[in-house]
Amino acid sequence: MSDESRPSPAQSPVAAVIPAAGRGVRLGPGAPKALRALNGTPMLIHAVRALAASRHVSLVIVVAPPDGAGEVKSLLDAHALPERTDFLVVPGGESRQESVRLGLDALPPEYGVVLVHDAARPLVPVDTVDAVIEAVRDGAPAVVPALPLADTVKEVEPATVPGDPEPVVATPDRARLRAVQTPQGFDRATLVRAHADVTDDVTDDASMVERLGLTVVAVPGHEEAFKVTRPLDLVLAEAVLARRRLNDGF
Ligand code: C5P
Repeated sequence: MSDESRPSPAQSPVAAVIPAAGRGVRLGPGAPKALRALNGTPMLIHAVRALAASRHVSLVIVVAPPDGAGEVKSLLDAHALPERTDFLVVPGGESRQESVRLGLDALPPEYGVVLVHDAARPLVPVDTVDAVIEAVRDGAPAVVPALPLADTVKEVEPATVPGDPEPVVATPDRARLRAVQTPQGFDRATLVRAHADVTDDVTDDASMVERLGLTVVAVPGHEEAFKVTRPLDLVLAEAVLARRRLNDGF
């Protein structure tokens, strides 16, 4: 499908790419992070359900560990997922960037809006997903959910030996800083161009779009969209799930 015949973001169906190929070493030894269980269900399944909960999302592409695509396919088959959503599993790469690019390569032509969501953010609420989609459909080439910071942030000259004192070089104005989450949302053509043109090492997809000189906008994120990185985050995630169950009347 040529760019001209592709639907504009305003009418386009939405696909989500979930990079889940990381090893998650900061969580300690064990299964790859995305396959760790939260209340008995793998984190990845929570993340897939969180994205598929949006009625706008009709395809979810999971990027699996390079040698784990079969296992991830079986996992998706073994868990209840919404019937109106299609699911694809593709093997990932060495870096998060490469994994996202491999996910984009598998995207059917009719999708003009793409979300990229970390498997490590299993509890993002559907309202946050929908707010990102709405901003892309309204014409933003790239959208990030973001929260103000509680901590003051310092820029330092990193020590060569971990644990050594580090000189502080600057204190950015906290009121202008945001902590950025996922899903990040994109006009598909913009994200594909960013992945083709930007080769620098980045930690999120929106910064690749910034490097193209395009405007990225932030919409309100949510505290439950936090990234499960360290062992304590697993405890917090299970507490959030327990609270949700109580609120749902179980
Ligand atoms: O390591 P980090 O927490 O930043 O990873 C963010 C997301 O990127 C995770 O969901 C992880 O599984 C994914 N990732 C990937 N391929 C890699 C490295 C990370 O899909 N090679």
